[in-house]
Amino acid sequence: MGIKKLESIWVDGSLVPWDQASDHMLAHTMHYGVGAFEGIRAYQRADGRTAIFRLREHVERLLDSCTIATLDCPFSRDQLIAACVEVVRANRITACYLRPLVYLGYGALGLGSLEPPVRTMVACYEWGAYHGDEGLRKGIRCMVSGFTRANANASMNKGKICGQYVSSVLAKRMAFRSGFEEALMLDPQGYVAEGTGENIFVVKHGVARTPPTSSAILAGITRDTAIQLLRGHGVEVREELISRDELYIADEVFLTGTAAEITPVREIDHRKVGRGEAGPLTRRLQESFFSIVKGTDAKHDHWLTYL
Ligand SMILES: Cc1ncc(COP(=O)(O)O)c(C=O)c1O
Repeated sequence: MGIKKLESIWVDGSLVPWDQASDHMLAHTMHYGVGAFEGIRAYQRADGRTAIFRLREHVERLLDSCTIATLDCPFSRDQLIAACVEVVRANRITACYLRPLVYLGYGALGLGSLEPPVRTMVACYEWGAYHGDEGLRKGIRCMVSGFTRANANASMNKGKICGQYVSSVLAKRMAFRSGFEEALMLDPQGYVAEGTGENIFVVKHGVARTPPTSSAILAGITRDTAIQLLRGHGVEVREELISRDELYIADEVFLTGTAAEITPVREIDHRKVGRGEAGPLTRRLQESFFSIVKGTDAKHDHWLTYL
């Protein structure tokens, strides 16, 4: 799934031609991973207008990640919001994935060095369904990974910090090589945490459960969207710990994320989830979600930033 080249990338306050948006081989973050990033989606709605979904929340989380990673981002929340809008407009694209990144550039490579400049960029590019259209429709096959989320004092899960994604990348590569589409990660105590880049929900007897944000997970914005929509449908949602075996006996399991949107899980560790297809509650949630981002839903306009 290569990235299709567009025209420009927003770098440190201005638009730079796509091919010139690069950095030095000795940029600090490339070596040690102290950077903060986001993943955001812009959708084309049924009326033809493009809107970025929950942009403010993503930018606020980016700044939180910067705080966690001791990166002094030189841009304010409103400037970063404007940068996201500007880069999508400049590339004349109607639907895309946005990737803001705040990182340490070239200057010195000492671990504690304060010399490297803090650099900020926002790129956008076309990106279809993360698990494919079939994955969205029929559900995906997952394995529980041997890689776990780390202790709260070893990893700061509330931030999207570049280097923290090594375990996600390794878990996902292992899942692919083992014939699965996604890896599910446990927390240090062995409870279910999340996917490599998604939060997880388990449905049993009509009740939806998802691990609490106080556990070793990213506080996903799509997770929050799903909780609000499910409760709006009258579904009981509990934020509580989930054990691995509860995955195997669930009626439905689905993953939420900006990339993955609402992805049903049809099999885990070679056990069928429910009937081995997208369950009714998952489908209903997908309908509501896609009606907001791509359709005609008018009740959640506050989540949309129109271009
Ligand atoms: C580890 C992890 N968990 C969960 C998510 C889902 O978060 P969101 O819905 O905000 O994209 C992501 C993606 O950003 C992630 O990287």
